[in-house]
Amino acid sequence: MKLSLIGFMGSGKTSVSQQLAKKLGLNCMEMDWFALQQNGCADMAALFEKGGEILLRETEIELARDWRDARDVVISTGGGVVMNKIITDYLKENDGRVIFLHVPFETIRERIKIDTTPRPLFEDADAARDLYNFRLPLYKRYADIVVETEDKSIDEIVEIIMNLIKK
Ligand code: S3P
Repeated sequence: MKLSLIGFMGSGKTSVSQQLAKKLGLNCMEMDWFALQQNGCADMAALFEKGGEILLRETEIELARDWRDARDVVISTGGGVVMNKIITDYLKENDGRVIFLHVPFETIRERIKIDTTPRPLFEDADAARDLYNFRLPLYKRYADIVVETEDKSIDEIVEIIMNLIKK
């Protein structure tokens, strides 16, 4: 089984992927972590300083290509993978299913306020809202499954996904 979670920054991809992988006995692959390792960077601020957003996007394409034949994995993607359709094409290879965690922007904004992870593309809330509005149709278009996550716990979201993938 190959599952990939997509969604905007702060949509819970990491927590849900970890819990989902645990429940299904799969490996959890955090794309951001691999991108940082591959470029020898401690965090996204350092990666953006090294090569800008384009370095992240190129690395994401390489990782998704390397993982085309991955099995028994839950891939937690970075929020920007929908900027390159080739990435979601790779994620869907080998019967991969792409799951979008939908969260309203205002909820995301509240979450990110209290999160200290460096996010170079979320430094300005208005610019982040524009980015969210731009990407929303892309997440929906590339997703095989859309999960409405507002007011739901991680366990509830995982439960919903587990039921949906049985179908
Ligand atoms: C980004 C999302 C981040 C990270 C980078 C850029 C984006 O990942 O890849 O800061 O373009 O939305 P998360 O969605 O895991 O925060």
